[in-house]
This record gives sequence, structure tokens and C-alpha cells, in this order.
Amino acid sequence: MLGDEIVSRINQLGTISETPEHLARIFLSPEHRIAADLIMSWMRDAGMAAHLDAIGNVCGRYEGDRPGLPCLMLGSHYDTVRDAGKWDGPLGVISAIACVADLNQRGVRLPFAIEVVGFADEEGVRFSSTLLGSRAIAGTFDDSVLNTRDSSGLTMHEAIVRFGLDPTRIGAAARARGELHAYVELHIEQGPVLEQQNLPVGVVTAISGATRLAANLSGMAGHAGTVPMALRRDALAGAAECIVAVEEFCKADSAGLVGTVGVITAMPGATNVIPGRVSFTLDIRAPVDAHRKLAVAEIVRRIEAIAKRRELSLQIDVTHENRTVPCAPWLKTQVAEAVVAEGYGVFELPSGAGHDGMAMIDIADVAMLFVRCRGGISHNPAEHVEPDDADAGARVLLRLIENFGPRKEGGSTHPVGQLRPPL
Ligand code: GLV
Ligand code: MN
Ligand code: MN
Repeated sequence: MLGDEIVSRINQLGTISETPEHLARIFLSPEHRIAADLIMSWMRDAGMAAHLDAIGNVCGRYEGDRPGLPCLMLGSHYDTVRDAGKWDGPLGVISAIACVADLNQRGVRLPFAIEVVGFADEEGVRFSSTLLGSRAIAGTFDDSVLNTRDSSGLTMHEAIVRFGLDPTRIGAAARARGELHAYVELHIEQGPVLEQQNLPVGVVTAISGATRLAANLSGMAGHAGTVPMALRRDALAGAAECIVAVEEFCKADSAGLVGTVGVITAMPGATNVIPGRVSFTLDIRAPVDAHRKLAVAEIVRRIEAIAKRRELSLQIDVTHENRTVPCAPWLKTQVAEAVVAEGYGVFELPSGAGHDGMAMIDIADVAMLFVRCRGGISHNPAEHVEPDDADAGARVLLRLIENFGPRKEGGSTHPVGQLRPPL
């Protein structure tokens, strides 16, 4: 069963962490490098040539029936959030490698190459930008982010050098549109929908767009015992009001708008000092871009009004913005056909979470296959996929690979290989 090895590898990667108490495999950390080396060894065992590109993407290639053919690219990310689950990201990398290993074992070569990428940074935990690995491959990496600093003051440029890579070579990681037939990602659903539907897998329709902002409020630090309440300009109390306003605004929406304040820092940070400065982040998402943009504008207006009323100065900047990425109908059809061929019902659902496909869309048509997530819990150590569901996901992916036909000029598809009959 493909699922057994997948689960065993998920558990192995799950131990490669900043601390043993909780899983954190942050971009360009020593653990990130250990994980990259392990994934490359699995790729080589599966019959692939493997290398690390200059941003830290793990890249494996399994040639087609002749060398140098355009590829079907598969992948996901191998970085994690802090106190993460084991499945978010690695499941897509490990499942794709398991599929290639199966083809290799049977001596199957297809009329296209298969490439598997473990993207270096999808979560954006360390620096304020995200999708850094997939942007490098899509050729949209913005060199100015190399000057951004992590919380310890280290620049991304310095962190890449410490990792053992050359940041001046990031441009060479970029791939041209003609080198890829498509990009397909398998990922844990991270939500409760497939569980409700009693289905192990689902076909993604689109990846919701997102806007991230950084807000800074400045008031006046002062003595907690002496400044009367009416005279205070407390930046933290102001931030609290802003956070509740964001929550209320998003809760009142009926079109899928979600808003999160995930990080807040108060300065100077002492029990007996009125906070003079506060910074917090905002993450706003919706399935429709126009709706998200209007919502972001209204949220910013409300934050500005709160700051004005409380006599706080406000600096608010967009740190990340991604449009909604639709999955390509022709490719989605092939994913659905693979689902049916493995004996499951086809269920379509949007992805509220962000994925590397949001960057890959610039050079390839994108599709995604979701695998059921227990309890809909993700970005949490309790995140879980049943082994049978991991197996189902990998079998559907394998079926998709073997039956894959690139998009024909004009939009339809033609099979390039023999359609594999059901097992
Ligand atoms: C990544 O998991 C994201 O959706 O932010
Ligand atoms: Mn993910
Ligand atoms: Mn994630």
C-alpha cells in the first residue's frame, strides 16, 4: 500500500524540527536543510535526479521516454508554521515521490517527464513575504525581499548564504512556460468539508486570494499607576479595538470573508507601562477578489477611524497580496477522471488556504487534489490524515499521472499515453 510508506515518511519528517516539543521547520533553518537532504535522498531512491536550487527548493526529475521532454510538475512545500501539523505541505511532496517510485519500479516511462518540487517557503513564517520557493520557479521572485530581516535581524540574503546557497543564483531557478505541461498539487484539505461528505479526496476549484497587512499604532508610553485613564493614548487598547472590529466585520459577511490577526507585539512590554507602540498583522481572504479588495479597504477605513478617535498615529502597509487562482478546467477534468477511476465520487471544493499554485499559475495551468483532514484541524499539531486516505490520494495522483494528456492547442486535451484501465 502506497499509504504505509507515505505515513512512515510523514512521521520521519515530523521529527525534523527546531524543538522536539513542537514541530517548527522554518525556511532556511538548519532543520530545513536536514529535511531537504532527506527528501533529495528519497527522490534519488525513486529514480529521480535531484538538486537544491538557490532558494532552497528541492527539485527532482524523472525523465520521460526520452530525455529533455517538458514535464508534469507535482509538488508542495516542506516548510511549516510554528507548532505545526505533520501533513500540511509534506504530504504532497512525499505522495508525488511515492508515485514516481512506483513508476520506476515497474520500469514505466511516459511521453513526458515528471518533476517533483518540495517548495522551500510557502508559509512565510520567517520573513514577511511568502511563496518564495514557487515564486523563484515561476520567475516572479522579487530580489528586494532579500533585504528583509527576520526577527533576529538577519537578512534573507544572509540566511540563504548560511544555508549554503548563493542568492545571486535565484534567477537561474526560474522555469519557462514551455518546460511545463501543468502543475498539480496534492494537499491535506485543512478544513472539514471532505469529512462531512464522507469522501477521502476532493477536486479543488480555485485557491482563494489573500491580502496580508502590517499595522503599527503609536500612542504614548507612560506610568501604569499615575496616568489617569482619560489622558491615556494606549496603543494596545487601540489595537484590541481594531482586532474586535476586524472580527465583527468579517463575521457579519455572508460571502466567505475571513480575517485573522495572528501576530501582535506591544512595546515596551512591561506590566507597569502603558504600551506606547503596537504592531499587528492582518490576513484577509475571500473566494472573490473584488469582494476581498472592498473588504480590505473598509477594514483599513475602520482601523483609521479607531486610531483617529484614540489619537494614535497609524502606519498600515500591504505586505502580501495574491489574487484568487482558478484551477484549469481541462486539468481539473483529468483529476476528476482519476478520482472516478479509483472508485470515488467526485466532489469539488474551493481552497481557503494558500498554496504554491498561486505562484505557479504564472507559468503553468494549475490543479489540486485535496485529501481528507480529520476534524478539519490544521496549522495545529492535532492535524491528521488517516493512512487509508493518504493511500487513496496517492493512488488518484498515480492514476492522474499515468493517464495524463497535455492540453492541446485550442483548449481540449489528447491522451499521450495509453489510458491505464482500472486495477
Ligand atoms: C498557508 O497555509 C496559508 O494559507 O497561509
Ligand atoms: Mn500548505
Ligand atoms: Mn500551511
